[in-house]
Amino acid sequence: KAGRLADELGYNLYIVGGFVRDLLLERINLDLDLVVEGEGIEFAKTLAHKLNGDLDIYRDFGTAVVDLDNVKLDIATTRIEYYPYTASLPEVEPGSIQQDLFRRDFTINALAIQLNPTAFGQLVDYFNGKKDLEAGVIHLLHNFSLYDDPTRIFRAFRFASRYGYQFYEETERLIKQAIDLDTIEKLSPNRLFGKLKHGLQDENPTSFIRLLVKYDILVYFSDSLVWNQVKEKLVKQVDKIIGWAMKKEQNIEFTPWILYLMTLLEHFTKEEVEKFSKKFNLNSQLKSRIKTSLEIEQIITKLKQAERNSEVYYTLEGLKIEELLFILVKDFSLTEKISLFLEELKEVEIKVSGKDIIDLGYQPGPYFKQILKEVKRAKLDGKIDSTP
Ligand code: CTP
Repeated sequence: KAGRLADELGYNLYIVGGFVRDLLLERINLDLDLVVEGEGIEFAKTLAHKLNGDLDIYRDFGTAVVDLDNVKLDIATTRIEYYPYTASLPEVEPGSIQQDLFRRDFTINALAIQLNPTAFGQLVDYFNGKKDLEAGVIHLLHNFSLYDDPTRIFRAFRFASRYGYQFYEETERLIKQAIDLDTIEKLSPNRLFGKLKHGLQDENPTSFIRLLVKYDILVYFSDSLVWNQVKEKLVKQVDKIIGWAMKKEQNIEFTPWILYLMTLLEHFTKEEVEKFSKKFNLNSQLKSRIKTSLEIEQIITKLKQAERNSEVYYTLEGLKIEELLFILVKDFSLTEKISLFLEELKEVEIKVSGKDIIDLGYQPGPYFKQILKEVKRAKLDGKIDSTP
């Protein structure tokens, strides 16, 4: 329908970017980016009207989003971009599809498929993107790409890790050059942290981290961020623990990328944690996860000594799921105790309340808390029948 409408308006319409790349790789990608050789916003308006969709227009960017019941279409006019300075927002002006594809980062992302009915499904490939996809090569489209937008260095690492691709020789040289010229320094802390997070959320965080190490990028996050054999082992361990947690029958909900972050920072002192959290404006949830690593050794020692269920319970009580999993990253021999906590102890509740004690004629007071805790301890250790 969109293709027919484009024909009616006399525009060429294409689907571009990640969707096309992943289609050729037979991977699912639901990011639908359309570009119009013509008036993108006008096209989006008419399309939204015809298909009864919701429309959001971003005039500053010359883009629009059409929200249909089950799909969202990002629509833009094909354009040329100019970056007035490194890491700035680009200035844009309309251009041809070829120019629009050329402004992008890598050849594998500069593919389009035409959607007009007469040429429906035709691949538009000016820069040998298909060949690079088949060869497994990340190939920058133009020499200034990384100066314009240094976040593309992180994109290069993400795609290389995700698909197991290599850098084209010249591209590798440009990546090194952009890093040597400190382009990354131009990114705001928020953007920088966002790129780290994005890489850690992608399909192969371990390989992404190795690329950060190989190209000496960790230092932009913190001077204290060192890499060594211990870290290498711990990161592999994170992969293993995530696999372990996902295979568990009981559905464990956790945020895997946080485990990688905790591992990267696990040797930090209190001051370093503070500095890092402040620099990247981390929310309290993230900060508290990172802080746990300061106490992790003590928790592990206590957990190792814990024999009774109640001792396991009171060692782990209050820890968040990522923190529990991080214990296993550090010491896999504790799986049984962590499983016991997750599967049984965490759910133990006592049915006695303060009110029950008052009803027995006792005066309320701070000792109630102690009594309730003792009841719970007895229940955890199987000293009271847990059947209702
Ligand atoms: N793009 C770019 N430079 C960037 C970001 C994006 O050239 N810094 C271009 C690429 O052509 C990319 C398209 O914009 O294919 C869409 O970007 P986005 O949706 O962010 O990325 P995807 O390529 O779809 O990657 P992912 O699968 O990680 O979402």
